Amino acid sequence: MNVVKEKYSVPIYNVKQVNIQSIMASLVTPTMFISLVLVRFFQQQMSFNQLLLMFCLFLLSCILTNIEIIRHPNWTSQMTITFSFLGSSMLLLIYALQSLSPGIATIFYVTPIAAFSMLIKHFISERFAMMCSVLMAIYGSFLFSFHEVNIYSIFLYLLLSQWFAIFLYQSIKDRKTLLKTSMSLLSIHFLLVFVFELNHLNMLTTSDILFSLLFSLLSVLFASILFLGILPIFEAGFNMLTESKLLALSNPNHALLRKMLVEAPGTYHHSVMVANLSESACEAIGANGLLARVAAYYHDVGKAIKPHMFIENQHKKNPHDSLPPEDSARIILQHPYDSARLLKEHKLPKEIIDIAEQHHGTTLLKYFYYKAKERQPGVDEVKYRYRGPIPQSKEAAVINICDSVEAAVRSKSNPTNEEILKIVRSIIYDRLMDGQLNDSHLTLNDILVIEKDICDMLNGIFHSRIEYPNDILVQQASRR
Ligand SMILES: [Fe+2]
Ligand SMILES: [Fe+2]
Repeated sequence: MNVVKEKYSVPIYNVKQVNIQSIMASLVTPTMFISLVLVRFFQQQMSFNQLLLMFCLFLLSCILTNIEIIRHPNWTSQMTITFSFLGSSMLLLIYALQSLSPGIATIFYVTPIAAFSMLIKHFISERFAMMCSVLMAIYGSFLFSFHEVNIYSIFLYLLLSQWFAIFLYQSIKDRKTLLKTSMSLLSIHFLLVFVFELNHLNMLTTSDILFSLLFSLLSVLFASILFLGILPIFEAGFNMLTESKLLALSNPNHALLRKMLVEAPGTYHHSVMVANLSESACEAIGANGLLARVAAYYHDVGKAIKPHMFIENQHKKNPHDSLPPEDSARIILQHPYDSARLLKEHKLPKEIIDIAEQHHGTTLLKYFYYKAKERQPGVDEVKYRYRGPIPQSKEAAVINICDSVEAAVRSKSNPTNEEILKIVRSIIYDRLMDGQLNDSHLTLNDILVIEKDICDMLNGIFHSRIEYPNDILVQQASRR
């Protein structure tokens, strides 16, 4: 009873301990802010009450950032360095802009703050970028507030500039996309400037408005240059997994994919199917669909070492018929670790290697276990389980489910919608009961969405086949 209870009590969120990395990441940017505020205080540009208020803001932002970092599923040291560098550099830039132009009230329009939020979204996540954008807008508005401009106008401009940048920046698939994003951002900046200047239109001259528009144009221009300049430095320097790197790895000309296509074509086809299912399911739950697609392409690459030992590559003879079940199991249970080793040798990103290692979790190789049990009833179940680890991310868990679903559905010639639902539901239920999704950060709602998405995809694949002219001719001939 206890065992069943333990397996049912799926931890929906695996909260990590507060560690030195999360503390570092949440301290650096607020510390830079409070240091700049202290400089102001000692230059007697602010009162003691204002300083106290800034300290409260400092403490609040440290706590909020820390909570968000702890909640982040895969926070890395690269993210700590990236966030600390980008946050403190942006604050220094704001401070420099404000200090170097004391007489220009609208200088805040020049701030290339959109680059900060786009880079945070690119390297960390959209959710984290949204939170940081609010903090950066508050910091910026306080640092710029010594000019004769309404602090709320500055805050709104800095916040909306970042939010639109986050919303507009979806990918950097090509230069055209980035150019489109910059043009859309520029139109929004012009609109924001126009709306803010509308309040005191009667006090402004044409040159004031033109200068404000020029400042906002410079803001978008600087943001684009900073974004394009910083992006490759961080990607290369930290070997970070980014969309551009994933897109390069999805190229079928990659040596490992070509090896799989030539030596294990059945596995290659299986991997492409798993990639399609996993990408769609991951996107449906807000996980990284592109990472899932690319990781699925490579998850079974270890099968290319002994391709004929895996059912999808067997045509006539099954070598397992002449092998004892323990030998068959040993060969099959080894393939996730062979995949991980090959991926390491080819220097693929750690996230893809981890998924390859976790894609079977610690599941039981049922067929050979029951075959061995027939011969020897007291056989040890552990010997027929993969060594794991169990999936540690949403993407790994989705691939774990899609991998089994694809294999199960492949064995059916033309399954009905009900049969597909039955297969998908039983595999997910089996994984839950076996504790395989315990560390995956999937919520129960995610699991329902995944189930529906996989079923929809499979129903589409099996039931939307267009009849080929040959089929129609055969039908017409048979009617005659
Ligand atoms: Fe596998
Ligand atoms: Fe597989």
